[in-house]
Amino acid sequence: MKNTFKLFAILAAALMLAGMFAGCSESDTLVMATNAEFPPYEYYDGDKIVGIDVEIAEAIAEKLGRKLVIEDIAFDSIIPAVQSGKADMGVAGMTITADRLQNVDFSDTYVTASQVIIVHKDNTDINSPDDLVGKTIGVQLGTTGDIYAEDEDIEGATLERYNKGFEAVQALQQKKIDAVIIDDQPAKYFAEQNPDIKVIDEPFTVEDYAIAVKKGNTELLKKINDAIRELKASGKLQEIFDKYIGD
Ligand code: ARG
Repeated sequence: MKNTFKLFAILAAALMLAGMFAGCSESDTLVMATNAEFPPYEYYDGDKIVGIDVEIAEAIAEKLGRKLVIEDIAFDSIIPAVQSGKADMGVAGMTITADRLQNVDFSDTYVTASQVIIVHKDNTDINSPDDLVGKTIGVQLGTTGDIYAEDEDIEGATLERYNKGFEAVQALQQKKIDAVIIDDQPAKYFAEQNPDIKVIDEPFTVEDYAIAVKKGNTELLKKINDAIRELKASGKLQEIFDKYIGD
């Protein structure tokens, strides 16, 4: 009887400790899932992840009094990570789509973006989305570029999916594919770094970026929306964009 009691006491103490740790990590950190292959929103500067989304997330974490932790994972793993609670939020230049809204909730939008086409600078026959008929198109797996190219069902076109946007750009430089569909700002960034590619003016789609949270996590969602509203009102959001997007 005595031993059973002891065991019980030890178990109870262990449970309490575990609870304290769980509680502590939950309230002290804010875990952001992202895919750091998306300049200027999130990318590596040496071994540090920087960019617009990182600074927005930092500002939100600061407002919440929590320490930001960044998890760099595959783009198509971000929503599952948010759903399972492994991450508190997905911040990844992520476009609000009807399909995604079935799996996560989105914050208010913090920027409007578009999908554009990049081609090799030698290419003269692709000048608008209509010219993609019969072409081989590269996209980043699971992104809206991938989804829209698939949905549009462009006649005779072949889709090549890459894990990283930059891998699609490299294939384009090697003329293995004819075009890449990717978000406007990464496209601009890649074209600035690689003079052998160019961005086509006419956008493919226009879309809104927002932060994803677990479905029903209204408490965090409200705090994130408050933070976004404040960042907009104070001019801080514009400052962050200006820092990364020079014109
Ligand atoms: N805006 C696109 C989407 O939501 C692409 C986002 C890619 N982001 C990234 N961090 N790799 O599908």
